[in-house]
Amino acid sequence: MSAQLAVNGGDPAVPETLGKPWPIFGALEERLLNEVLTSGQWWRGGYADDGDSKVGQFEAAFARFQDAEHAVAVTNGTAALECALKAVGIGAGDEVLVPAATFVASATAVLLVGARPVIVDVDPRNYTIAPAAAAAAITPRTRAIMAVDYGGMPCDMAALDALGRRHDLAIVSDCAHSHGSQWQGVGTGALGDVGAFSFQMGKTLTTGEGGMVLTNSQELADRAYSYHHIGRIRGRRFNEFHVPATNLRMTEWQGTMGLAQLTRLAAQTEVRERNATYLAGRLVEIPGVAPLWRDPRVTRWGFYFWHFKFLPEQWDGVTCAQFRRALAAEGVSCGTGHTQPLYQHPLFAGRMVVGGEGHPPATPDAAKAVDFRRLDCPETERIYATEACSLQHRLFLGPRGDMDRVLAAIGKLWAHQDELRQVAV
Ligand SMILES: Cc1ncc(COP(=O)(O)O)c(C=O)c1O
Repeated sequence: MSAQLAVNGGDPAVPETLGKPWPIFGALEERLLNEVLTSGQWWRGGYADDGDSKVGQFEAAFARFQDAEHAVAVTNGTAALECALKAVGIGAGDEVLVPAATFVASATAVLLVGARPVIVDVDPRNYTIAPAAAAAAITPRTRAIMAVDYGGMPCDMAALDALGRRHDLAIVSDCAHSHGSQWQGVGTGALGDVGAFSFQMGKTLTTGEGGMVLTNSQELADRAYSYHHIGRIRGRRFNEFHVPATNLRMTEWQGTMGLAQLTRLAAQTEVRERNATYLAGRLVEIPGVAPLWRDPRVTRWGFYFWHFKFLPEQWDGVTCAQFRRALAAEGVSCGTGHTQPLYQHPLFAGRMVVGGEGHPPATPDAAKAVDFRRLDCPETERIYATEACSLQHRLFLGPRGDMDRVLAAIGKLWAHQDELRQVAV
């Protein structure tokens, strides 16, 4: 019998490229970049008279887009997280709850401010931090919850806010994936105490590299400002420094790119969400796969990657890894998100002591050993090993017909399980 599946040499179900290439740019980006070039003003400046800077305009525009009152633009998303943690006062001796399913920077930023990430499991319905797991991990040293909008899916902010209020914890949102997302009509980054965005090139709003801290608190915004501007205080003399801090200033190149890309974001978010809603609705017609649960309080979903579930128990011995590999060969590139639970990275692999070699100094109390090898987040482990399938946001920028092609490719795999079971991974 000749091979049907593309992974075995058959014809792919989707020979054409889906979605759009990323990033998307045009004459606007060229014009604005050229404006910066010829202005000779390539850095933001000292901020004393900042109204005209591109970065200042981008801060105001992006904060408005996400419903936040204040913004501090920085060099990248990891720096934005660090800045956000500094703003809420996290430091040596503190613990921050971080979900096991996320990019490593959510936890690295905690280490970089001298605190300890306490890694907790996620809600299997939507892969965001499980409020019950977070509650169970609270100790007298816990100071904050890192609410990662994984893939762009907003966390259960009602539950996390309640937990935060009960235990006096700051809610720091990692919004690196959630540009455009809304929870109960309010943009991410304007929820909780402070939010941190990434504008790295793959993100749905990109400046190549870049990041931003958003908050509704003037006090937190001022602290973030000082931390990203070498310890200056807003409105004070340029040569006056108040706290030990670093330089995370965004350049005018990035600011102008942010302004240009932002003009495209609302329409792109709408197209992606329309296509994803259609795909989710039709996916339930195919056995063996299912969309993630979308909480009805998620009023807009601006996703970075779109997860769906492979349901191993419904397949006759086929694994998720075989499925993903074969789907990619059919022309639908498919990943897992971030491949493994946070604590399985080499960074956490040894018996690590916060404050030990290679880590920031910590108080004697915080220098207690944490054996990350003994950590066990069963849902996150199961999700990455057997269930998670993620599609890139650019796949959703084309016509609805592209979604039908994705469905056809998945349906083809379901119909050829005998062949799929033999696929090497
Ligand atoms: C969840 C999450 N947080 C933080 C970051 C860090 O952002 P950056 O790469 O801009 O430093 C990323 C980057 O992809 C991310 O996925």
